[in-house]
Amino acid sequence: MLIDTHCHLTDKQFCDDIEAVIAHSRDMGVKFFVTSGFDLDSSIKAVEFASAHNNVFASIGIYPEYSGFADEKTFAQLEELASSKKVVAIGEIGLQFTDGAPEKEVQIKVFERQIDLAFRLKKPIVIHCREAMGACLETLEKNKDKLVYGGTMHCFSGSKESAIRVLKLGLNISVGGVSTFKNASNLREALSIVPLERIVLETDCPYLAPHPFRGKRNSPAFLPGIAENLSKILGKDVAEVEKVTSENAIKLFGLEE
Ligand code: NI
Repeated sequence: MLIDTHCHLTDKQFCDDIEAVIAHSRDMGVKFFVTSGFDLDSSIKAVEFASAHNNVFASIGIYPEYSGFADEKTFAQLEELASSKKVVAIGEIGLQFTDGAPEKEVQIKVFERQIDLAFRLKKPIVIHCREAMGACLETLEKNKDKLVYGGTMHCFSGSKESAIRVLKLGLNISVGGVSTFKNASNLREALSIVPLERIVLETDCPYLAPHPFRGKRNSPAFLPGIAENLSKILGKDVAEVEKVTSENAIKLFGLEE
C-alpha cells in the first residue's frame, strides 16, 4: 500500500483522463490520495473532487505566491470549507522567496495566519518552502506551540541541518520525485539521516515527475518508483518503506476508508 500525501488531481493537465489516472494509480498500489489546493478556488475544487471520490482527501490553503490576495474573508471561507469531513490538512502554505513573489512580510503574515487556523481546527499543515528555508524554519519555530497536530515539509529539499530542525519541530518530511533526480545527491544525503517513522511519500503531480520521467506529466502511479528509490537511500526493504510511510500518513491525516 502507498499513499500520495500531496498531489493536484484537479490540475488542468488531468482534465481529460483523471478517472483513468486514479484507476491506474490504484492498480499500482496507491490507496489514499491527498489532493491539494493552493488558493481559495482550487481549495474548493479539491474538496469537491475529494467528496466525489472514495479514498481521496483534500488539503486546503493559500500558497505563498497568492498570499497578496488573502484577507480575513478568505480565511473565513477557508475555515468554513474545512468543516467538510474530507478536509484533512491546511496546505499548501508556506514561503517562497523567488523573483516576483509577494513581499516577505506579507507571506509570513499569511503563513502564520494559516498555522493558527490549522491549530484552531486541530489539523496538520502541509508546508511549501522554496528558496526560503531559513525564514520558513524560523517562522515554524516561532509558532512551535501551534504545531501540536503535526504536518509535513512537502517536497523537502533542504540540507541535513534543515532536516534536523524540521524533525525537532515534530514535523514529518515528505519525499517526492526530486529525491530521484540525478543531481539530487545532497538531498539524498540529508534524507539518509531521517528516521523512516518520520517520512511520508508524495508525487506533487502533475509536477516534478521522478526519474526517468522527469519533465513529463507526473502521476500518483509513479509513487512505487519514489518508494523504491527511498528504500535504497535508507538501506531498507521497499516493503517496509511502503508500510511505514503509509502508517505515518494514515496517522498524521487521520485517513480512513
Ligand atoms: Ni504542490
